[in-house]
Amino acid sequence: MSSKVFAIDFGTSMLKIYKKNEGVIFDEKNVVALCDGAVNAIGNEAFEMYGRTPDNFEVTFPVKFGVVADFANMLALLNSAFSNLADKHGKTNGAEFVVAVPSDISEVECRAFYDLLWSSSAKPKKDKVRAVHKPVANAIGAGLEVMTANGIMVVDIGAETTEIAVMALGGIVNCKKVDIGGNRLDENIINSVKKRYNLIIGSKTAELIKKELSCALPPKEAKTLRVFGRDVMTGLPTEAEIDSAFVYESIEEPLRSIVDAVKMILEKTPPEIASDILDTGVYLTGGSANIKDLDKLFAQETELDIHVCENSANTVVMGLGKIIENAKYSDLKMTLDKMANGG
Ligand SMILES: Nc1ncnc2c1ncn2[C@@H]1O[C@H](COP(=O)(O)OP(=O)(O)OP(=O)(O)O)[C@@H](O)[C@H]1O
Ligand SMILES: [Mg+2]
Repeated sequence: MSSKVFAIDFGTSMLKIYKKNEGVIFDEKNVVALCDGAVNAIGNEAFEMYGRTPDNFEVTFPVKFGVVADFANMLALLNSAFSNLADKHGKTNGAEFVVAVPSDISEVECRAFYDLLWSSSAKPKKDKVRAVHKPVANAIGAGLEVMTANGIMVVDIGAETTEIAVMALGGIVNCKKVDIGGNRLDENIINSVKKRYNLIIGSKTAELIKKELSCALPPKEAKTLRVFGRDVMTGLPTEAEIDSAFVYESIEEPLRSIVDAVKMILEKTPPEIASDILDTGVYLTGGSANIKDLDKLFAQETELDIHVCENSANTVVMGLGKIIENAKYSDLKMTLDKMANGG
């Protein structure tokens, strides 16, 4: 493999790009802002505009539930990112690419990831775009040994998806992607604030409330945050003080659904591997794994050891990085043909 190799995690919330031997070179909101149809800003700059734009602007997240929902805008965003990165990190022309794809997507959804790179300004050769199953990259990024016969369980709780996977020998034994993640928690907070305080808040405020106050178990100490929004009745700007117990009640149900999905996968895990998991525990990754006491909730419900991985939002892209830098993982990278044949 040449040294010009880029690995990409197309997240619902974040776009992360790793360059071989350099590390993560892009880690920003997966957002594009268009003005009269042309790209005006991407990434965090575009996200700043979210909810504040005039009519001729459109600010969109082109990935939904872990798959490419808006091909044209994702391509525009990617090309713009490549062009912005060129000065500092070199051009992408003729480079090789490795992308992480969710484990249980359809063939059409999977093809879209390859098509994106093939259609991009980098114009890679067909066989220079390869994909890796996201849970495998995730486990490697979490520092786990995936190539041995020992079974491991990793739960990636992102923005719109939670991907639960049991793996051994570099492959997936059992997996499930549920469409619940941090965004669902934000939506629940928006709805609860509206009901309780007659206050309409935006998704950025909801995310801030979640990051500051959320807790997966009834909070032991009360924390509060003053937030601003619009009164439902008068339509005028107003404020309210939100507390951690209220936030806990708002997000309890989706967190339970995630725990239930994990329990379901555990029940379907072959006994030999289940005993490995009993030994090693369950690894939580993804940005939403940072919710306070989430490990305690999982431990309480599964009676297993729970580990929240360090830098949990970046384990997939860091795993991709290890895969492109280490020959022992070369069999994990699949061309579209191989991926379509079940890997
Ligand atoms: N400290 C925190 N506390 C709670 N949630 C957080 C924290 N930091 C980030 N998040 C949430 O993590 C999510 C983003 O995580 P991540 O980067 O893993 O998502 P993604 O990979 O873009 O999404 P997906 O995997 O669903 O496609 C967002 O919902 C964000 O609000
Ligand atoms: Mg993700």
